[in-house]
This record gives sequence, structure tokens and C-alpha cells, in this order.
Amino acid sequence: MTKLLKINRFINPFKKTIFVEGDKSLSIRWVLISSLSKRKSIAFNLLKSEDVMSAIKCIKILGSKVNFKKDRCEIIGTGLKYNIKKKITLNAGNSGTVARLILGLLVNSQKKIKLIGDKSLSKRDFSRVTEPLKRFGAKFDSERKTLPINILGIERPKSINYQELRGSAQCKTAVMLAALKSHGSTFIKAKKSRDHTELLFDYLKLPIKIKKKQDYDFIKIQGTKKIKSLNYRIPGDISSSAFFLVLTLLSKKSRLLIRNVNVNPSRTGVIKILKKMGAPIKILNQKKYKGEMIADILVKSATNLKGINCPEKHNSSAIDEFLVIFLVAAKSKGISYFKNLSELNQKESPRLKWASKILNLIGIKNVVTNSSIKIYGNPHHTTTNTIIIKDYLKDHRIFMMSTVAALTFGGKWKINDLNSINTSFPSFLKTLRNIEK
Ligand code: S3P
Repeated sequence: MTKLLKINRFINPFKKTIFVEGDKSLSIRWVLISSLSKRKSIAFNLLKSEDVMSAIKCIKILGSKVNFKKDRCEIIGTGLKYNIKKKITLNAGNSGTVARLILGLLVNSQKKIKLIGDKSLSKRDFSRVTEPLKRFGAKFDSERKTLPINILGIERPKSINYQELRGSAQCKTAVMLAALKSHGSTFIKAKKSRDHTELLFDYLKLPIKIKKKQDYDFIKIQGTKKIKSLNYRIPGDISSSAFFLVLTLLSKKSRLLIRNVNVNPSRTGVIKILKKMGAPIKILNQKKYKGEMIADILVKSATNLKGINCPEKHNSSAIDEFLVIFLVAAKSKGISYFKNLSELNQKESPRLKWASKILNLIGIKNVVTNSSIKIYGNPHHTTTNTIIIKDYLKDHRIFMMSTVAALTFGGKWKINDLNSINTSFPSFLKTLRNIEK
């Protein structure tokens, strides 16, 4: 039985300051990269969500030692090579990032390793990473595109030339991790996507060179023998912040300050898009931390939102935030159009499809295709409908989007699955209660 959240009210005006939990992309990368160093790495504010725990369980099975202390997590890794004696199974749970990045790490595993995941992850495409990894020399024992997958690495992976044209940071990073373990130089032409791995490699002084052009980055990585320890303080997650940004924008007479958020430009598409729609959002106290940008975000209730034809150039940097951006479009004056978003249907659930269904349930006209959605906004729209949100493959972001919609559009909502927030933002409901206090 899935756990249900019932909401039958609008949110009251609020003026608050909050912190959100650690960035998921950076937390997973810290765990996986630290596992490659034989020295002790320490992270503060590591996100303790199910996705990150999946990464930790995987590296422990591969031989790393992990220790949680009161305020920190410590990892002593295996180095770049594994010493696996028997056939093992790794479980990535719900996380596409863990599964795809781990496959990159396994390019030099000397034993066959089975990778599995939950029902949602087992529906997702893995050929996008197995194809380049085959070229490094890894073997997969079938032509399967979905989990479970068996991988057998090779002692001396070959370096490759690779083009990542989807704008997927997961594919780019899987290849970058494999490149570290290979001989010679790997060249990657990558459509712009989040660049946390590049910044971490650079901070660790790994042999990486990057040329940034308008739409693509050109990355050269040489294989290496040793990785230093990685001490890191993980900033707040902008993807988690986005739910509260939109909650504030669509609430009456409210104001929210979200402190210490990662505002890396490759992640701030949501802010750029919302500002274009007329959202009063300010970035304050910006500072640099180990290559990343961190800031406080101030947001107020919006009074004058307008629909947009969303520029495609923001798609990758807002990919996890479109669900809530669609809610803002629904409360904006005029029509909004979002296109070239077929990747949204490749996430934890087919999000473009479910977003359209949820907008229909709220009573917002929209026209959806496999890769686009047109939303007919209405700033005054509210609903009294009874709305039941099924557990769409337990998609955490569908749950949080629905919660924000319930509190700002009205109606009688029953939203599954409450436990899904543990994937990325375990304190989501606690943070909401604090705002409402
Ligand atoms: C992520 C990359 C994105 C994003 C996912 C996290 C990452 O996926 O949707 O939530 O940490 O690299 P894609 O690389 O498939 O676009």
C-alpha cells in the first residue's frame, strides 16, 4: 500500500527563510569519486536520500569503507581498480544517475557484475551508456537496453572519441569516469549539460582540459593512476528549491528566502525561465566554492506572470524543474510553449505525459505531443475538483509537483506516494510544515 497525502486547502501567506537539503547530483558524484581514492574523503551536508544511499551501498559492495558521523560522511575508497573475487549484484534503486555513472566505473571490473534497479529504473534506456562503454572494451552479455544488465570490464580500457548529443550529464559523466580508468586520451564533444563532474575533476587536478563553445563543450581526459581525497561541503539543491520557489510565486502575499543553494549556471534554467515569465526572484550573496556557485535565492508572490515560448537552450539546465514550471505556465496570462523535451519522458516516469494529465485534472487546457506541451494559462484559475494522483511509478517529483499544485490551485487532492520524497528530498513535507508554522 502506498502512503497518501490529502490536501483540501490553499496555503496561507508566509514570510520565511529555509534551507533545503544537499544537492543530489553533487552528493552522488562525491560518493562515487571518493570511492576511487584510497585516502579518506569527508563530506558535510551530504544528501541522505534513497538515491544517495543506493550509491553508498554500491561502493561498499565494491570494497569502499563508509562511515557516517554526526555531521559528516567519510569514505575510504578502493582506488581506481577493484579487487572483486566473486560475482556481485549492485542495486541502483530508483536512480538513473547512480546506475549510469556506476556503469562507467565498472569499465575495468575483472569480474562480471549484475546491475539491477527498481520498477521505474528497469523501464529506462541504458543503451545510451552501454554503447560508448562497449567502445572502451566493456562487455555486456546481451543486447538488452534495460536493467538488469551484466557488465564485464577489461583490464586496460581503450580511450575513445565520443559525441554526447542529447545534453545528458549522466551519459557524459559515465564516459568521463570510464576515461579516467583507460589508457590514453578520451575526447568528448558534449551538448551543454550540468558540469559538476568537470568542476570536481578540475578541483582534484585530474588531467582534464575543457574548451567551451556556444552549444557544445569539448573535453579531453587522460587516464590516471591515482586520485586524491575529496573533502566537500555540499550546497543546497536547486531542484529541491524549485518546488518552494513555485509555491511562493503562486501563493498570495508571501516571501521566501532559500539559503545556500547551488546556482551553477548549468542548473539555473528554472530561474532564467521563471524570470522571463515575470517572476520576482533575486539571487543574493553569490560566492564561489570549489568551482561551484552558491547563493541565497529570494522569491516573492508573483502578480503579473505571462506565458512564454520557452527557448530550447534552457532545456538541459531546467530538465528536472519543468514539472513545476508547467504549474507557473498554468497560472500565467496567455499561452506557453515548451518544445524539444522528449527527454522528459525518459525520467523516473514519462513526465511530459503525466504533467499533461495532472493539468487536465486541474482543468487547465493543454496540448501535449511526445516532445512538446502547449499550456493555455489563466492567472485566475482555481478548482474544486476531486483529484487523485496515482503513484506514477513512485515519481518523487510528480508527488512534490502535485503537492504544490494542491496548495495553490485548490481542489480536494489525494496524492500518492508520500514515501517517494525519500528519493531526493526526504524533508520536503517537514520544510513545508515549517513554512506554514
Ligand atoms: C543528472 C542528470 C540529468 C537529471 C538527473 C540528474 C545528473 O539526467 O535529469 O536528475 O546528476 O547527472 P540526464 O543526464 O539523463 O539528462
